[in-house]
Amino acid sequence: MLLHLCTWAEVEAYLKRSTGIIIPIGSTEQHGPNGLIGTDAICAEVFARAVGDAADALVAPTISVGMAQHHLGFPGSMTLRPSTLIAVIGDMVTSLSRHGFDRFFFINGHGGNVATVTAAFSEIYAENSLAPAGHNRPSIRCTLRNWYEAPAAKRLSRELFGGEEGSHATPSEVSVTFHAYPDAVKQAEMSPRVAPNGSFTDAADYRSRFPDGRIGSNPALASAAHGKTIMDAVVPDLVESYRAFLAA
Ligand code: NI
Repeated sequence: MLLHLCTWAEVEAYLKRSTGIIIPIGSTEQHGPNGLIGTDAICAEVFARAVGDAADALVAPTISVGMAQHHLGFPGSMTLRPSTLIAVIGDMVTSLSRHGFDRFFFINGHGGNVATVTAAFSEIYAENSLAPAGHNRPSIRCTLRNWYEAPAAKRLSRELFGGEEGSHATPSEVSVTFHAYPDAVKQAEMSPRVAPNGSFTDAADYRSRFPDGRIGSNPALASAAHGKTIMDAVVPDLVESYRAFLAA
């Protein structure tokens, strides 16, 4: 159930049976020679929609632009500053909490978002903690799940891609997007076959260390079929995680 395809009356009815909502969060950034710019947002969105269908959960609009300053050396990449992303998350959660939502389950597709999203949750909790005694602000709970860290995702990454998964522009995430958008599948030469590993600071530093955008990966191994395998295995993990979160 997608929030933006509901009427307000349908949302009001949903709130009588659940106060949980899933918020996909990704990024719009380069993903190497054959990966789509929208990879992280696409992955978060397709997992969120599948979990929403399986768990009868409402899915909020995807936060498609994340904290990706280090990718700005590549055309098409976009970023929000950490402070902007914290404000966006805070305003979205506060808007929804006004209606009675109190369990916010973020499905994330981008490692670069983790620190900022975690800080956003702290800001949200701080608003309650710092409010005057006797305030009537709703008590809310937020959690972040990185789909690529679900047990099934880690197992399949090892089984399908071994030491060529890497950490950016991975064959796992590229496979999921190829499954989701078969008309957008790209092919490109990978040179070297497996990209270098390492750390980075800003956009210029990143581009000089990782000239084609990949880190440690060989996304030439990606395929739509692998993407379907990953989707089918990971969605049940996330559904279980969502149900446990609602019950906590
Ligand atoms: Ni990614």
